[in-house]
Amino acid sequence: MQKTKKAYFCRNCGYESPKWLGKCPACNEWNTFVEEIVGKATETVVGTSKQSKPVKIGDINLQEYRRIMLADNEMNRLLGGGLVAGSITLIGGEPGIGKSTLSLQIALQQKNLKTLYVSGEESANQIKLRAERLGKTSENCYVLAETLLENIFIQAKEIDPDFIVIDSIQTIYTDKMDSSPGSVSQIRECAAMLMRYAKESNTPVFVIGHITKDGSIAGPKVLEHIVDAVLQFEGDNNYIYRLLRSMKNRFGSTDEIGIFEMTGTGLREVSNPSEVLITRHDEALSGSSVAAMIDGARSFLIEIQALVSTAAYGTPQRSATGFDVRRLNMLLAVLEKRAGFRLAVKDVFLNIAGGIKVVDPAIDLAVISSILSSTADIPVPQDWCFAGEVGLSGEIRPVNRIAARVSEAEKLGFQRIFISKYNRQTPELDKFKIKIEYVSKISDLSRKLFDRNSSQ
Ligand code: TYD
Ligand code: MG
Repeated sequence: MQKTKKAYFCRNCGYESPKWLGKCPACNEWNTFVEEIVGKATETVVGTSKQSKPVKIGDINLQEYRRIMLADNEMNRLLGGGLVAGSITLIGGEPGIGKSTLSLQIALQQKNLKTLYVSGEESANQIKLRAERLGKTSENCYVLAETLLENIFIQAKEIDPDFIVIDSIQTIYTDKMDSSPGSVSQIRECAAMLMRYAKESNTPVFVIGHITKDGSIAGPKVLEHIVDAVLQFEGDNNYIYRLLRSMKNRFGSTDEIGIFEMTGTGLREVSNPSEVLITRHDEALSGSSVAAMIDGARSFLIEIQALVSTAAYGTPQRSATGFDVRRLNMLLAVLEKRAGFRLAVKDVFLNIAGGIKVVDPAIDLAVISSILSSTADIPVPQDWCFAGEVGLSGEIRPVNRIAARVSEAEKLGFQRIFISKYNRQTPELDKFKIKIEYVSKISDLSRKLFDRNSSQ
């Protein structure tokens, strides 16, 4: 009798080893090895058809590189101008964020395209219920509840759809491998088989992948290497806004982000994010200010709220949602050391509107303004906004694409924007009607924020 062959795989990068290892020699991650059965091992050929022959680059006919325009403009833009025939796109995200909703919505929206939605997680009935919830139906959308990849291919060949959705890669399996669905070797093999299928039949495939807590696609990183494009769903399940970010794209730019709102009837594209991410209060509130931020290729305004209060315990609390706590601690240290604010004995809470995570350092200036405003309990006028990075010596540093930020603020009717003095050289800034305040240090900023109040 044949003995079952076992091997150890790194969950992070897919590295294979005959024995267990504490640290992966390929990606240097610790504790990522899992044991798997690798019976009936096949060669994993990643890429296109095995029979292809070398051709001269000059002889390649570009006509074959076809793009399918989807009914959803936001998706077309994210994919770099339409879905490329024969491409494979991974949609990643945490459970419950809306991956199935989005992909079913895409499949249903296409009026002129035949689509095949394969689910390994839900029955045809459940999918129908979801479609009813979305209020959509389509003559051309086929649904298949199946987990064996070979069967999926048989059905796909029969239907010959314009594109396929596989929900999700962790639930499907191939009988070429003995290991269970969701294991590293299954995911790797299935992804490679899907890739071959996509290239050979020229059918684009969307693959859904769950993401682990640490942010990587559950299963091996090789999945990200195999596919042509990775779209990552981000956002907090408790909020309605979702960001779909292009992390990798062989056919377009990775600067693109799409913003969606989860409604009772599916995901809706948010065409003007600034309008939903800032709340217009009846009266100005202290601790709240607006930052002009950039994410990917888009600029928008976002509201930042801070609450500074006397610490109830010996060690003050610092907490932030949507912002890096370490960066908040750094900004507080700068305020203490460079501008003389006694914040060491204060609790500081920071919150970014809409559950959106911001990494753009240009929001520093708005974070500092919110903290100063809450400390002094003096509101920042609602039609002022900020864009600048704060350095360790308390200087306000220039930020990129300043004209785009100022333009967005002007478009939304803001009267005044605070930016770094070192952005002054930008020639495009002269054309704006909005009042631009140049600041070089934190002390400058606090004077401009508070002298106004004392003189009123
Ligand atoms: P789902 O798309 O199943 O998430 P995923 O496939 O990423 O695990 O569902 C996301 C959540 O969205 C779910 O908790 C229910 C909710 N939802 C709505 O709010 N509105 C809707 O129209 C639908 C279909 C789901
Ligand atoms: Mg799902």
